[in-house]
Amino acid sequence: MWDLLIRRARLATMQPGAPGAAAVEPGPSALAVEGGRIAWIGGDQAVPAGVGTPLELDAEGRLLTPGLVDCHTHLVHAGGRAAEWEARLGGATYQELAAQGGGILSTVRATREAAGGAGGVDRLVSESRPRLEALLATGVTTVEVKSGYGLDEPTELAMLAAARRLGRLLPVSVQATFLGAHAVPPEFAGRPDAYLDLLVNLLSAAAAAGAVAVDGYCEAGAFTAAQLDQLFAAATREGLRVKLHAGQFTDQGGAELVARHHGLSADHLEHLSPAGVAALAAAGAVAVLLPGASLTLRDPARPPVAALRAAGVPMAVATDCNPGTSPLTSLTAAMSLACSLYGLTPAEALAGATRVGAKALGLADRGQLTVGRRADLCLWRAEGAADLCQSIGAPPLAARLVEGRLVHA
Ligand code: NIG
Ligand code: FE
Repeated sequence: MWDLLIRRARLATMQPGAPGAAAVEPGPSALAVEGGRIAWIGGDQAVPAGVGTPLELDAEGRLLTPGLVDCHTHLVHAGGRAAEWEARLGGATYQELAAQGGGILSTVRATREAAGGAGGVDRLVSESRPRLEALLATGVTTVEVKSGYGLDEPTELAMLAAARRLGRLLPVSVQATFLGAHAVPPEFAGRPDAYLDLLVNLLSAAAAAGAVAVDGYCEAGAFTAAQLDQLFAAATREGLRVKLHAGQFTDQGGAELVARHHGLSADHLEHLSPAGVAALAAAGAVAVLLPGASLTLRDPARPPVAALRAAGVPMAVATDCNPGTSPLTSLTAAMSLACSLYGLTPAEALAGATRVGAKALGLADRGQLTVGRRADLCLWRAEGAADLCQSIGAPPLAARLVEGRLVHA
């Protein structure tokens, strides 16, 4: 007995090479769910007689995709940075503002203040919840959430606790990442190696607080590849997977660093050499593209999409939701920007927010519609990937299901 049967849908299975793979040609039209997993996929005429179901949903020809995966966010934090954005519109640069103690460190001050004292995790949760709710309304069923605005033990752990609590409060699967190496905190100014020692010692507590991956910021003014090499080696011993902010403003060899540590993904990549592309391809790592940051920073640099495509590097698309460089709470808008700004095809953008987004998190149980995978599903008022990716405003979401449960209709 199935729990749910969806009929008369247009399935974008996102299975490489299969019919309906990219929502451009007609594929199967019916899907059954049992125990939170996909139990059967086929044509409407092929639904086996005799398998009962208490719930049948007529999709009326709409597009059915895997639930969206936002594989790169900083959505847990306190405070905003609109004044910095306004200053940048007036000609200031991100790096100048950061050097004056703004940028990441200004959100660190706000987040430490919110997280301190009794009820700190509650305050982080209530500040962050509306951002997550907005993301879910765009079809997100799995979200990655980074720490990195604490940069001290209590606040980093409070951020990870807030991420975990959000995953219990709202119908979404949360994957937490430890980003202690986001910036050198003021109390360690001029002593980055001492701060890195603290981070290495924090890894097991971060894992115990729910982090499944480690991330760092490999950039001039942040951390060098050599510094992050030590952190990533220790993190791998702790069982954490490696991700990296690489090549946002300058190429510091971040892609090669990810490849050396068998990392899941290198993210941003607006500055990436041919050797970096080859390293990602050889390592099977994902390139995570974050067009919201290019837009907000008004940065004309672009990731080398044609080279990544030619080398077979899988490209994910994510929001980078953060208060400074990408105050974006819509994954469908990020998909649209990936097409308009970076030149992805709509089919690539949809794959980037489903199958490839899941790969960037090391999650093999979702991101495609195949029997046995999680029944995380989105039904869209759209016929194909182009309809879906063209919209920048209210997403054409008709229904969202998490593990087969209708959580948004
Ligand atoms: O992904 N570049 C580093 N991290 C963020 C920005 C964080 C911030 O400015 O608060 C990013 O763009
Ligand atoms: Fe980021």
